[in-house]
Amino acid sequence: MSGKRKKGDDLTDRGDDGVEEFLGKFFESVSVRQDSEGDVDTPLAIKLKARIKQQGPLTLHDYMEACLGDPAFGYYIARDPFGANGDFITAPDVSQIFGELLGLWCVQVWAELGQPGNCKLIELGPGRGTLMSDALRAASLVPEFLQSVEVHFVETSKALCARQEQLIKAQAKEHGREIPQLFWHDRLEGVPPGPSLLLANEFLDALPIRQYQFKHEAWYERMVGLDETGAFTYLLADQVSNNPDDLSLMPSAPVDGDYLETRPATKRLLKQIAKRASTHPFNGLLIDYGYGIRTFGDSFQALNSHQFSDPLRDQGLADVTAHVDFASLVQTTKGLGLNVAGPVTQRDFLIVLGARERAAQLMQAQENTTGAQQFMTGLQRLIEPDQMGSLFKVVAIFGAGQVRGPGFEPSSYTND
Ligand SMILES: C[S@@+](CC[C@H](N)C(=O)[O-])C[C@H]1O[C@@H](n2cnc3c(N)ncnc32)[C@H](O)[C@@H]1O
Repeated sequence: MSGKRKKGDDLTDRGDDGVEEFLGKFFESVSVRQDSEGDVDTPLAIKLKARIKQQGPLTLHDYMEACLGDPAFGYYIARDPFGANGDFITAPDVSQIFGELLGLWCVQVWAELGQPGNCKLIELGPGRGTLMSDALRAASLVPEFLQSVEVHFVETSKALCARQEQLIKAQAKEHGREIPQLFWHDRLEGVPPGPSLLLANEFLDALPIRQYQFKHEAWYERMVGLDETGAFTYLLADQVSNNPDDLSLMPSAPVDGDYLETRPATKRLLKQIAKRASTHPFNGLLIDYGYGIRTFGDSFQALNSHQFSDPLRDQGLADVTAHVDFASLVQTTKGLGLNVAGPVTQRDFLIVLGARERAAQLMQAQENTTGAQQFMTGLQRLIEPDQMGSLFKVVAIFGAGQVRGPGFEPSSYTND
């Protein structure tokens, strides 16, 4: 692609498919990245601008959804953003202790459930598959568990599905272990019914949010449009949004300028969980960063090469997320007739499950202090309050009358 466009060859004149084809070629031939002055658009930025010119401003929800999941250029769709060379490091990459303890949590719950056969071990948004790989290695201490479960990954990125399969199979081969059957789905609805154990680490924060701003005693949805220079900008919808959400958990009434965030996909997910739990035992752990007490505020953010960046730049190249609202999550879950334990901090949860003891064991097995130090640093990163220990929180969801699983002090149970 030469970079020159003929008069009349305007992106806005093409259908969406035309834009995709054009940008696909563009993407193949040049490596573009919006530079620090913002004068070069990414392929997704070009596509979104064309869409806005055609359809008008997008809701922040639709903008975030496209940044992460656009079928051609979405952040998660074609790349591996994890690890030291990526944009962020998640808990499973920080230390193997994280996945191992979650694997043992699953074994314990499965035992308390009476060791059901045909049990679905589900992971939502498994990234590189590190968590599941560590969990299966730890769970192999109880061979009957591995013989009783099927692993079901819920993942929208084909590139990451391939990575997950590769890692799980390579690790099993290296250790000479049998692995359970592996399945992939792009939605939880695709997982067949049956007793279920579900893990989700940093999955909810990747689901798109809607944002509203309070102005003159009313809420207006926050949109992404273009300014007079053609750059992305935030706008408010012209029309008032009627009752965007239940504000009963808010500590105070809104004042002008306050932001309110909702995450419609979380409610859909919880309804699916309630459906599963109504016919079979269900236990799930949701782990994410966010706030335990509901609050007004704008938490929409972008991360690029381990640095915070402007969410209106580097579309498709930066991770865009927003905090998880655990108070709403708990309220919605309870409203669906499910039980909830937590939220507790990741620190408390991992310590109760034995993170310190496991780290000590791994450190002792090291031949040199550098190896031992790595495990100590990893543990600190997971549990120290000024690192991931307090910001990250854990919620357990389980069906009415069903077992709750370890890791929560009784005082933290919220729906008994
Ligand atoms: C922040 S990463 C978390 C990865 C992993 N759980 C970890 O702890 O390293 C989010 C993951 O969710 C996946 N994902 C994002 N939106 C999704 C959706 N709507 N349905 C299924 N998977 C999704 C991404 O492709 C990615 O694997």
